[in-house]
Amino acid sequence: MSDRHTPHLRETAFGDYQNEIYLSALTGVVPDLPMAYSELETRAAGAMSPPLLSYVAGGAGDEATQRANVAAFAHWGLYPRMFVGARERDLSVEVLGATWPSPLFMAPVGVIGLCAQDGHGDLAAARAAARTGVPLIASTLAMDSLEGVAAELGSTPGFFQLYTPTDRELAESLIHRAEQAGYKAIVVTLDTWITGWRPRDLATGNFPQLRGNCLANYFSDPVFRRRLGTHPTDDPRGAVLLWTQLFGKALTWEDLPWLRSVTHLPLIVKGICHPEDARRAKDGGVDAIYCSNHGGRQSNGGLPALSALPDVIAAADGLPVLFDSGVRSGADVVKALALGATAVGIGRPYAYGLALGGTDGIVHVLKSMLAEADLIMAVDGYPTRADLTPQSLRSLP
Ligand SMILES: Cc1cc2nc3c(=O)[nH]c(=O)nc-3n(C[C@H](O)[C@H](O)[C@H](O)COP(=O)(O)O)c2cc1C
Repeated sequence: MSDRHTPHLRETAFGDYQNEIYLSALTGVVPDLPMAYSELETRAAGAMSPPLLSYVAGGAGDEATQRANVAAFAHWGLYPRMFVGARERDLSVEVLGATWPSPLFMAPVGVIGLCAQDGHGDLAAARAAARTGVPLIASTLAMDSLEGVAAELGSTPGFFQLYTPTDRELAESLIHRAEQAGYKAIVVTLDTWITGWRPRDLATGNFPQLRGNCLANYFSDPVFRRRLGTHPTDDPRGAVLLWTQLFGKALTWEDLPWLRSVTHLPLIVKGICHPEDARRAKDGGVDAIYCSNHGGRQSNGGLPALSALPDVIAAADGLPVLFDSGVRSGADVVKALALGATAVGIGRPYAYGLALGGTDGIVHVLKSMLAEADLIMAVDGYPTRADLTPQSLRSLP
């Protein structure tokens, strides 16, 4: 890549995070945030209330799909290549006309607001994006309004994730607010117009939105308020009831031309795991496909998302393909890239970072993942994203 040696990119030598840690240890300072994912999960669990933990950590059914998402990465191994001298790496990727310093992004997490001690985790995630350059996809379900979140992003791009309401005027209002606020793309989530069967949450009857949480984007919306006929603070129960009626439109292919027509921003469809759906979405004019099974939260008995990725990429036929579900390490990021993902998202890992250490906790999770990815690319001789191809991987028996 031509600009690989510019000062800007040298600043993003992600592997240097390990030098910071080793050097700090010489003065007696060892990391207070976990270095291993398993410890992150365990310690975050201790920092979260039981209902919040069940909401974040849990998934659909007996969580077999959720576990399979993670396990799928172990079926692939990267060939190490020698005599490459990958002294400098360039992890940057092109996404919808922009250059990101790395392929990593934060997937939309609807209760991220509640994962912060102060209830403003959406803002904390945006601040972590600003500090790291790792883009954030802001969820519709937020404790702070999409405008407030956008204001914390600094120069890092943010995308707005839409749960398409049943009311088209409300949907258009949310989309136009996102455009106004400076988001760079609209991500329409297709797999969550209804909530999947989640035994952990059912066991405690916990559904945060029904308690009025994470509805700031609705309560601040002029169309929503008009439908309610009053200010949501004057009728909180009525506001939640109205939200239940307006939340999830069961989209069909007939809705795609409308979604395409209501925004000039790039349109991304999230939840695509079948190649035929990818082909049809492409024909319908979307700008990128987002291959994901919602981290196994929506339906059990499914394929691990990673195993759906290669066929989706083939069907996308050159369109960018974002990927998430089960990514837990820098090694996972590298493998998803090698399979052909344009960019790679994480959900639960940054929610745990937030629960444990606020904005600093998210920054630590992102920097650790990028450092590991960078160092794998160094050791294994893949200096740029372009060097990582399906031929870099071998599937294990
Ligand atoms: C607690 C939680 C809330 C989520 N909320 C949303 C959401 O509001 N919108 C959305 O499109 N996806 C949502 N997701 C799914 C994530 O965007 C992403 O697909 C998933 O977390 C990736 O899997 P991972 O957690 O294994 O990394 C949520 C995931 C979690 C864990």
